[in-house]
Amino acid sequence: MIGQPQAPVIVLGSHKGGVGRTVTAVNLAAMFAQAGRRTLLVDFDPKGDATANVGLPRAHGERTLERLADPDAFVEDCRPASCPPGLDVLPGGPVMEKLQARLWRDEDPPIDLLKRGLQVARQRYRVIVVDALPALDPLGCNALAAADVLLLPLSGTAFSTPALCETIEAAERVCTSKLLVVGVRIGVRKEEMLSGRQGLPPTRCACMVLDSGIAYDAHTLLQATERGLPVFEYAPGSRVARSFIEFGREMLARVVERPAVPSSV
Ligand SMILES: Nc1ncnc2c1ncn2[C@@H]1O[C@H](COP(=O)(O)OP(=O)(O)OP(=O)(O)O)[C@@H](O)[C@H]1O
Ligand SMILES: [Mg+2]
Repeated sequence: MIGQPQAPVIVLGSHKGGVGRTVTAVNLAAMFAQAGRRTLLVDFDPKGDATANVGLPRAHGERTLERLADPDAFVEDCRPASCPPGLDVLPGGPVMEKLQARLWRDEDPPIDLLKRGLQVARQRYRVIVVDALPALDPLGCNALAAADVLLLPLSGTAFSTPALCETIEAAERVCTSKLLVVGVRIGVRKEEMLSGRQGLPPTRCACMVLDSGIAYDAHTLLQATERGLPVFEYAPGSRVARSFIEFGREMLARVVERPAVPSSV
């Protein structure tokens, strides 16, 4: 539909496992919904952690590639999260494993399935957050190819840099739209980041590291996760919840609702 605003698609990237993608995706999506922006969280991981984190059962059964890429079927498969209102989820889990296996059988697997599948959702929601895999396999590439924004958790360690570089390079290869690369520090202060762009590897895309960072607090996050609650619901006064709220506000102002860049005349 011409003129219809399109929800930005924010993909949690990083080719390295266990860096906080799922916790960040779930809490960010919940904060957007809490702030009154209708939000879709897409769990694109066969582990289905994001789905479990919002209190829904992981998706078993079958979902064909055709159904994933069908914009109407895609929104039919989305479910309301138990909390907060305004947050819907495309459940992940074993069903994604089967899609991955199907994609591996292809000599030249398509990478535009999610992008196609999201067409109706992008008009129905204000913002879409995708929890992707820590791999540049066919599912991971499908997630990157759908991204308007690649959100990278930054731990400030040298070990994470090669994975960040690979993720950015892959996104630059497969993204057809103008990509914005955003870094968010987890458990590390600005002045502790590696030199350069405060921990972001070089990219030819527009990029920024957020001023707000997420506090490190494994215990509180684990408790919130076990209860299927966003951390701002479970422990609103905690430092980690407050850091997530700041992060959500900055994402809304600078990324989701950023003024459109005027095209050159
Ligand atoms: N801000 C944080 N402070 C402390 N611990 C955190 C933080 N964010 C995430 N964690 C913890 O780190 C671990 C990995 O987090 P998470 O599952 O979000 O990472 P991931 O990148 O999605 O991992 P995977 O590769 O398994 O998908 C979890 O135990 C989680 O509770
Ligand atoms: Mg994860």
